[in-house]
Amino acid sequence: MRVALFGGTGFVGSYLVDALVAAGHDPALLVRPGSEAKVRHADRCRIVAGDIGDDKAVVETLSYCDAAIYNIGILRELPDQGITFKALQYDGVMRVAERSMESGVKRFLLMSANGVKPNGTPYQETKYLAERFVAQSEMEYTIFRPSIVFGDPRGRMEFCTQLRDEMIRPPIPAPNFFTGISPSTGGFSMSPVHVRDVVEAFVRSLPDPTTYSATYTLCGPEAVAWPDIIRRIAAACGRRKLILPAPAGLVGAVASVFDRFSWFPVTRDQLTMLTEGNTGDSSEVFADFGIQPSPFDDQHLSYLR
Ligand SMILES: NC(=O)c1ccc[n+]([C@@H]2O[C@H](COP(=O)([O-])OP(=O)(O)OC[C@H]3O[C@@H](n4cnc5c(N)ncnc54)[C@H](OP(=O)(O)O)[C@@H]3O)[C@@H](O)[C@H]2O)c1
Repeated sequence: MRVALFGGTGFVGSYLVDALVAAGHDPALLVRPGSEAKVRHADRCRIVAGDIGDDKAVVETLSYCDAAIYNIGILRELPDQGITFKALQYDGVMRVAERSMESGVKRFLLMSANGVKPNGTPYQETKYLAERFVAQSEMEYTIFRPSIVFGDPRGRMEFCTQLRDEMIRPPIPAPNFFTGISPSTGGFSMSPVHVRDVVEAFVRSLPDPTTYSATYTLCGPEAVAWPDIIRRIAAACGRRKLILPAPAGLVGAVASVFDRFSWFPVTRDQLTMLTEGNTGDSSEVFADFGIQPSPFDDQHLSYLR
């Protein structure tokens, strides 16, 4: 299939291109000026220069395609540069979906996230509204909601490399975030899912009509408590780490002061989503796709060394 991919140059997108090419598809990528060198398998991809806000470039990316994948997303807004959750996670989806229908591209895969909801953080809310828009359209859609995605980011950043650089390597204790009054009652867990398992689910669903109109949660095989996440990442880096309780409310108050500075490692909303936890049982989903999901273990974290 000829597949228009929006968001093909980032962490997950780079693996999506690998998987599409390996499955014999022909990707067409919308690539922002300056990101051309990040395109993998450039010789196998049709590349259209432009931003998701550029209607003409979106239409050009979709031309000759049989399907579209919307994978663009951000974790932090920079409103003075027009980088907002609404622009990139809702308006962009709407634009691609509408232009897809006008161009006769009916198959549409949407990258969402586990935990999206109305009245959540702007990240969660815009993704939730984008899901609703797609579900109410005439398209043959499939929506994917991964938990935290991990895997070698190949020079980019993902959750574990960010934790390694910002919590494990600095010579200070790592925070055991908790909500409420104590870590024993206010702890949380996550089910990190490997990037290759996520992109494989996308590629297997692409030509499969039985996955039309479905929303799949993609969680890794284990719910790992936050202190264990820290310990496993530290062990993968060959370190041991002292972990001390850190009330999320207090850290959130500090984060909210620094929210507007891009150098500050975490926003208040990111902390809110972190302490909500991010787990789920996707064993049936992966079994249906014929995928054996990778565990969050030393072997699969070896890229952190
Ligand atoms: N990573 C996770 O743990 C995780 C978990 C759940 C869901 N997700 C979702 O998965 C998707 C990919 O995440 P990721 O971690 O791979 O993010 P990423 O590495 O930051 O990649 C984001 C992609 O979006 C593109 N993009 C950003 N702004 C754009 C714009 N204005 N116009 C066109 N393209 C633009 C980026 O292009 P450039 O290369 O030019 O910046 C890049 O290709 C997102 O929707 C995210 O919400 C991720």
